Amino acid sequence: MIILKSPQEIERMRRPCRIVAEVLEVVKESVRPGITTAALDRIAEREALIRGATPAFKGYCGYRNSLCCSVNEQVVHGIPGKRELVEGDIVSLDFGVLCDSFYGDAAITLPVGKVDAKGQNLISVTEQSLYAAINFAVPGQRLSDISHAVQEYVESRGYSVVRDFVGHGIGRSLHENPQIPNYGQPGKGPKLKAGMVLAIEPMINANGFEVKVLGDGWTAVTCDGGLSAHFEHTVAITDSGPEILTKCV
Ligand code: MF3
Ligand code: CO
Repeated sequence: MIILKSPQEIERMRRPCRIVAEVLEVVKESVRPGITTAALDRIAEREALIRGATPAFKGYCGYRNSLCCSVNEQVVHGIPGKRELVEGDIVSLDFGVLCDSFYGDAAITLPVGKVDAKGQNLISVTEQSLYAAINFAVPGQRLSDISHAVQEYVESRGYSVVRDFVGHGIGRSLHENPQIPNYGQPGKGPKLKAGMVLAIEPMINANGFEVKVLGDGWTAVTCDGGLSAHFEHTVAITDSGPEILTKCV
C-alpha cells in the first residue's frame, strides 16, 4: 500500500526536507582533504539538532551514526570514522531527519579537492540521472518510468546501475512503499498519483553493477573496486508536477 499525503501533510514534510538540505549544505562546506568522516557526522548531527530535528538514521536497524559517508568504491551506508578524506576522493553523504512526525531524506556526492575527469563525470551523470528520473514523478506515469529513466540515462553514458538498493516512499516512516529500483522496463508498476512522496536515489557505478556488503554489516562497496556515486531527493508528486522538497533554496 502506498500512503498518499494530503496537501497539509506535504506542507508538514517541507520542514524535515528543508532541514536535510540545509544540513547537507553545511556539511558540504566542511568537505576537504584532511577532515575525517566522523567529523562530518558530528557536524550533521549538530546542525540537525540546532534546527529542532532528530537525525533519522541514528538507531535505525542498529546504525550508530547520523550520516552515511561513502568514499570512492563505497556505494552507500559507509560508517563515519577515523578515515581522513584525501584530495581526489569522491564522497557520498546521505542524511535524513525526523521533524514534526515526518521524515526527509537526501544524498549528494562531492569531490574532495581536485578530482580527475572520470570521478567528476560519474558525479555529474549520477546527479543528472536523478533529475531525469524526477521528470517522470508526475501523475499518470507508472512507477517504473522513474526507474527506467535512471537506467537509460546512466547506461547510455557507459555507467552501471546498482541493483541491490532502491529508493522508497517516505512520510511518517523513513521507508514506505513503494520500493523504487533504478532500472527496469517503462510502463510497469503502480500509477503515480498526486500525494505520493518518493525518495528517489540512483546509486551508480563507474564499472560493473555488482556490490557487496563488508563485514561491518553496513558498508556496501563495488565488487570490482570501481568508483560509485549516489544522489537522492525527497520528491512530492503534485497535480502541477514533481516538487523537490529537499532542494536547497
Ligand atoms: N538514506 C538511506 C535510505 O535512503 C538510509 C540509510 S540506512 C541507515 O534508505 F541505517 F543508515 F539509516
Ligand atoms: Co533514502
